[in-house]
Amino acid sequence: MRQVIIAGNWKMNTSKEEADTLVMGILSGMADVKSKVIVCVPSPYMSQVEALIVHSQLNLGAQNLNINASGAFTGEISADMIKDFGVQYVIVGHSERRSLYGETDEIVAQKVQVALDNNLTPLFCIGELLEDRESGNTQVIVSKQIQAVIDQVGIDAFKNIIVAYEPVWAIGTGVTATPQQAQDTHVFIRSMLAEHDADIAQTTPILYGGSMNLSNAAELLNCKDIDGGLIGGASLKAQDFLQICKAG
Ligand code: PGA
Repeated sequence: MRQVIIAGNWKMNTSKEEADTLVMGILSGMADVKSKVIVCVPSPYMSQVEALIVHSQLNLGAQNLNINASGAFTGEISADMIKDFGVQYVIVGHSERRSLYGETDEIVAQKVQVALDNNLTPLFCIGELLEDRESGNTQVIVSKQIQAVIDQVGIDAFKNIIVAYEPVWAIGTGVTATPQQAQDTHVFIRSMLAEHDADIAQTTPILYGGSMNLSNAAELLNCKDIDGGLIGGASLKAQDFLQICKAG
């Protein structure tokens, strides 16, 4: 039985004060949440969030990491730096990083490797563009993205990887994949992993992301192969996020 995982991706949102308010709001409603809950917060607020969530069920995540350990990489953040703040999870390969910052499948695979080498669990994001879906290429794109990571880290490493399927056309658009569309792609992802290792295919958590909100979460999370959600916009409102956490 795979545990439900709900991860909030705050992206470049909140202020110092809003970050505190949001975390305290989430903490106040966590008592009856059974899912594993992760908040991926902006780097400048990691320290304060770390202090607030100590001894709680909330887990801290980062939104990115650099493949290098240290050095002349202005503006970047290393695995060691995020670990200093109790971070255990890191989003890797988000579509915004792929499209806006030129992260290729190969760079994403290297980032997954660096995360694993540092005992961080990557939330490894994959997903197709609208034109890919419309031209019937969803599986081609998704398998290329996964294969790059299998080639880099090997199938066994998926024991420590969380996959997040996020159709790019559903991210931040208010257009959610239907439960059937999401479930079908999750089955495809699992079948691809199963070609390498049947047990790993069954145990790897595969989250859905893309306009998941309190009105569609239950239906999506009820699908057999959807093990949780990566939530952007709806993770910025404590009550909405909590409702999603409870829907799983
Ligand atoms: P969204 O973002 O929920 O706002 O669509 C999801 C994501 O980008 O991870």
